[in-house]
Amino acid sequence: MSKFIDSAIIAAKSRYKRIVLAEGEELRIIEAAAIVSKEGIADIILLGDSTKILSKATDAKLDISRVKIINPAESTKLEDYANLLYQLRKDKGLSADQAQKLATNPLYFGCLMIKSKDADGMVAGSINATGDVLRPALQIIKGKKGIKTVSSCFIMALPDESLFDTGVMIFGDCAVLPDPTSEQLADIAIASADSAKTIAGIECPKVALLSFSTKGSAKHPLVDKVNNAVAILKDLKPSFEFDGELQLDAAIVPEVAKLKAPNSCVAGHANVLIFPDLQSGNIGYKLVQRFAGVEAIGPICQGLAAPINDLSRGCSVYDVVSVVAITALQAI
Ligand code: ACO
Repeated sequence: MSKFIDSAIIAAKSRYKRIVLAEGEELRIIEAAAIVSKEGIADIILLGDSTKILSKATDAKLDISRVKIINPAESTKLEDYANLLYQLRKDKGLSADQAQKLATNPLYFGCLMIKSKDADGMVAGSINATGDVLRPALQIIKGKKGIKTVSSCFIMALPDESLFDTGVMIFGDCAVLPDPTSEQLADIAIASADSAKTIAGIECPKVALLSFSTKGSAKHPLVDKVNNAVAILKDLKPSFEFDGELQLDAAIVPEVAKLKAPNSCVAGHANVLIFPDLQSGNIGYKLVQRFAGVEAIGPICQGLAAPINDLSRGCSVYDVVSVVAITALQAI
């Protein structure tokens, strides 16, 4: 377990945030629920058929006696939640019947629990695609007040904890926005700097907006998109250091930074990397994860009014416990 996750677990412990695990019948999720409840990291609510869940737990000798199990289809709250969903989405064309059916979907039910203040956060994605986990969150929970763009980041825990001051970097957005506009890139930079401070413990985020060009070395509309995002940030005057457009080597290697961007306040020392689109971000984090042995924690959603986080379908029990701890931290 990385030092970063250790400290997230310590910070989340005994705060008893109520975290919904929507894929409650999945064995990895039941195992994670047993660990989380035993360690006191959060109060867990598993969604699913209680007979199936309890029988899997018994077969695997897991103690889930402190875990709450709710079957959405049999819940006494279903009617209220379906009404709430109908009220929230009727203007978007959702009928009362459709709302009734959709509310039994655990991914929607979990979000409706949070919206109704019956839970504080949700984790899902072990058996559902990212888009299916995020859509109900975007429709029901929506962005925090004043936030236009919901995005995501990965916390990259490096094997050498002395690197980049804290041994932790933030990569954004590697999971949500397929092709962000310049405005959305600026929003991603702001949200990622905030996640760096509040979740990853990076006191001074240095944000690099990445490109295949450094300071005008290439001319292309894709480079302009990144430069426009930098211009938007300059107008907004956020409280963190940022620069772009920068190539990856100029962003993180001091010797290259001296040559390519000598006047940059960020180049050579960036600890928050903003990728220009989802193709580069998603491929980029997986390259670092697979080739460099870096632990990639996330994707952590940024900007939602309540914490809802996605899992990779290839996630381990440890990954689930880690993301639950971070979700509980976000909920505090
Ligand atoms: N920020 C804020 N609001 C948003 C965002 C966003 N990023 N995206 C969509 N919305 C809003 C929409 O405006 C809409 O609002 P409204 O219906 O209230 O008017 C609502 O959320 C729902 O939007 P939909 O159109 O139903 O959803 P959409 O089809 O846009 O899907 C989604 C959003 C699911 C996030 C989509 O962008 C997506 O699939 N992204 C890629 C996910 C993915 O596959 N990632 C890669 C794998 S992850 C990994 O490898 C770790």
